[in-house]
Amino acid sequence: MEILKKKSQVRELVNKERSKKQIIGFVPTMGYLHQGHLSLIKKAKNDGCFTIVSIFVNPLQFGPSEDFQRYPRDTERDLKLLKEANADAVFIPSDEEMYNSNHLTFVNVSKLSEKLEGSFRPGHFAGVCTVCAKLFNIVQPDRAYFGWKDAQQLIIIRKMVRDLDFNISIVPVATVREEDGLAASSRNVYLSPDQRKKALVLSRALQKIEQMIKFESVIDANLLIEEGKKIIKSEDVELQYLEAVELENLERVEKIRKNTGILGAIKVGNVRLIDNLIME
Ligand code: PAJ
Repeated sequence: MEILKKKSQVRELVNKERSKKQIIGFVPTMGYLHQGHLSLIKKAKNDGCFTIVSIFVNPLQFGPSEDFQRYPRDTERDLKLLKEANADAVFIPSDEEMYNSNHLTFVNVSKLSEKLEGSFRPGHFAGVCTVCAKLFNIVQPDRAYFGWKDAQQLIIIRKMVRDLDFNISIVPVATVREEDGLAASSRNVYLSPDQRKKALVLSRALQKIEQMIKFESVIDANLLIEEGKKIIKSEDVELQYLEAVELENLERVEKIRKNTGILGAIKVGNVRLIDNLIME
């Protein structure tokens, strides 16, 4: 596995592989890898891609009172996992390699970035889009793999790619869960054992909603959201939002159908967690 720290090294490697007719698959991450990240890499490898993973904790997407400084990092462990997953190359740039000292350009997908997560994390998606646009320009992949775990991010990146004519297919990958149902996340390490138990309420609420849709044929969004909220409020956590939306534009829907999703966020102590149910 090639370990690359410089943009120029990435360009050189991609040119070489492309001349061998390789399809370039790209998996952007912030590291502290878990089964969710590994499933994206597995998908890229199964698709036959020369698979490049990036690890970069992007300062631009963290708010001033968010966890940029204490975001978990363990490069040694990540490299071991990437080798085991047969990733072909990893790009680990420094902050200076990614952002010059006078960075003035930002990519913002308006409207979609202000809803749901955006209303709790102003500026977050402009940070995500800016770094993804830069990474897409550096790597120039044929495909980029994103998890449904961060559904709003995936929808916004898909829109950015369409609006700005990036020649990249965005490939969505289903959410990987831990044994107890909690969606795998680098931030799960922040949870104490007691908070972790409480955090399960979000996946439990989504599971109940899924059962009501599947087995009781309930499609009334208000009814489903009401039930989900009731479950979440029975636990000692802060409900930030739970909404049924159209996946294309994140507008609220009255009825659940194909291409809608139920997106939720809770706060357990100081830890924010998101999860969702996607009807693809
Ligand atoms: P990060 O949180 O490290 O996630 C990297 C990718 O892994 C994202 O596409 C995310 O949706 C996916 N992922 C995370 N948890 C997952 C799970 N449980 N199941 C499936 N996929 C999962 O998302 C980011 O980093 C950053 O915002 C980034 C796109 C790298 C830009 O900085």
